[in-house]
Amino acid sequence: MLGNVSRRDAILVLFGASCFYLFSALVSDPRNHSIIINTQPQYPNHLNAEQIATETVLLSPTATEHASPAPTQATAPLDLGLVQNLPETAIVAHAPGWTIFQNLYMSGGALLLLTSNTSKFPEHRLMTSTGLPGNLTNDAQRQPTARDMAFITPEEAKVEWGGDILIGERNRVQTVEGTTLLFNDPPQFLNHYFHFVAELMFGSWVFLYGAFADGLVKPPASPAFDTSTEPSFNAPFLSTTTPTIDRAIFIHSDADGWRDKPGFNAYFVRAVFPSMTVEVDIDWRDRIEATSNPEISRAVHFPLALLTDRSAAFRGVITGKYTQRTAGSAWYAMAQLGKIDLIGNWWSSMRAALLRYAGGEPHEDLQPTLQFPESIVITYINRQGTRRHLRHEDNLALIAAVEALVERKNREGKKKWEFNNIHAEQLSLDDQVKYAAKTTILLGVHGNGLTHLVLMKPNRVSAVVEIFLPGGYARDYEWTSRSLGMTHYSVWNDTSFTYPDEPPIPGYPDGFHGPNLPVDGAFVANLIDEHVTSREQGVVVNNSPAHDVYD
Ligand SMILES: *[C@@H]1O[C@H](CO)[C@@H](O)[C@H](O)[C@H]1NC(C)=O
Ligand SMILES: *[C@@H]1O[C@H](CO)[C@@H](O)[C@H](O)[C@H]1NC(C)=O
Ligand SMILES: *[C@@H]1O[C@H](CO)[C@@H](O)[C@H](O)[C@H]1NC(C)=O
Repeated sequence: MLGNVSRRDAILVLFGASCFYLFSALVSDPRNHSIIINTQPQYPNHLNAEQIATETVLLSPTATEHASPAPTQATAPLDLGLVQNLPETAIVAHAPGWTIFQNLYMSGGALLLLTSNTSKFPEHRLMTSTGLPGNLTNDAQRQPTARDMAFITPEEAKVEWGGDILIGERNRVQTVEGTTLLFNDPPQFLNHYFHFVAELMFGSWVFLYGAFADGLVKPPASPAFDTSTEPSFNAPFLSTTTPTIDRAIFIHSDADGWRDKPGFNAYFVRAVFPSMTVEVDIDWRDRIEATSNPEISRAVHFPLALLTDRSAAFRGVITGKYTQRTAGSAWYAMAQLGKIDLIGNWWSSMRAALLRYAGGEPHEDLQPTLQFPESIVITYINRQGTRRHLRHEDNLALIAAVEALVERKNREGKKKWEFNNIHAEQLSLDDQVKYAAKTTILLGVHGNGLTHLVLMKPNRVSAVVEIFLPGGYARDYEWTSRSLGMTHYSVWNDTSFTYPDEPPIPGYPDGFHGPNLPVDGAFVANLIDEHVTSREQGVVVNNSPAHDVYD
């Protein structure tokens, strides 16, 4: 089945890139073990709202207030050296693979949940893993042990880290102020634009944005969270309740491990979070070292941390069984709770920050509904200079057909149409961002360049047209497009599929990654024409994956 593919592609296929049914057998429902997991290949679009609900934990403000003295409130000291009772760990929000903690501790490399009631927490395996690269046979080796995550009672914490305050000793707990992203994944999927930006960053942002939306849980009041009182050169977020992110820690990756070859991952991080400090495995080892003295036990305290883990995400139903997107479980949790809109407003701060950084002028007012664009901009991500690409003559015919469509539309004069045929690898990152930001219809062969869809501002006509080898299919861009309110078409030469009639089984037949993909250019031009015309005639198609849950 894999044919002549590189090792990397084989791994991508096996671990999360597409073959959803391969993973079914490994997935179990976190709460209800009587749910039978269907190991048959199955059309993944009809999710069960109850399954999602049981996967999601979101504490109410009351529950959080009750979670013992929080040092993150304005009156509480960040210096835990002198407090009588160390604040207990609370979960702000959880979906498999995504957990926001208040008062998370770390000592000797283990993440420690300080609590007198362990039943308040999801299983550790749904929050973390050993951080090993994943494959189909090593799930057991990726199950977290007490060295990765453990409970500690208030009494034990006192024995371990407590000073005798009466005689002037300090607790041996040091606070790492602000909001911390703890990324537990190895480089396996970090050093790849799609998996980094459209899964890790996408999921992190939807989860943080959703958890703190509407003041459900207020970000802790501390100077570290409040930029309104101090001048800041950070781009303002459209959501004022989302906490400022102070640092990201790549626990299992070195400095190269989270960077992709074209450089987009670092570009994204620096453009969107210019003040965020990045730490990698060697920095984490410093912190482990500092808390590993066998004679004097110490701990590090994170007042607010988002822990993400790919293996844990795949143990959940949404990612493991239905979407194969780690961001899937984060997105559904917040969509289900009504904490995010379904047309990408929640992501607009990211788009705006990127375009501003690239030198463009973002128009990112919040839109209550999808608007009609002023012009139709078709951007073709031309992959002819890379490995997986179209037959030479089909590429030329495709370009000719789309050019002819655009010329005709401009002659008809209803709206301005534009066609950009771009070779991403020949453009600067800034220029790629600028093209993507103005794009209405993104067209191209299945590949990383389509990740640029996350830079498109969704409108009534926004669509991604993805060309596959006939018989092949992957859900990466399909799910991501729909989660932002855009339409997605899969094209097999002269046939197209769209939600809810996508090809039934993701797969990579021989030649999927090859240089001879066929496409009928006239068919694609006609597809685009019909798509735009139908939207102009008022056809409303709601592609949102939320419908998989609510309908
Ligand atoms: C422990 O937490 C569970 C789940 O939140 C709750 O039902 C239970 O009452 C708690 N037990 C105690 C002793 O607080
Ligand atoms: C899977 O990963 C484990 C390490 O966790 C490794 O020992 C094993 O060789 C890997 N298997 C495959 C098929 O790559
Ligand atoms: C692609 O579609 C065109 C138009 O229907 C057809 O002529 C051509 O044979 C098809 N190519 C392949 C490889 O199926």
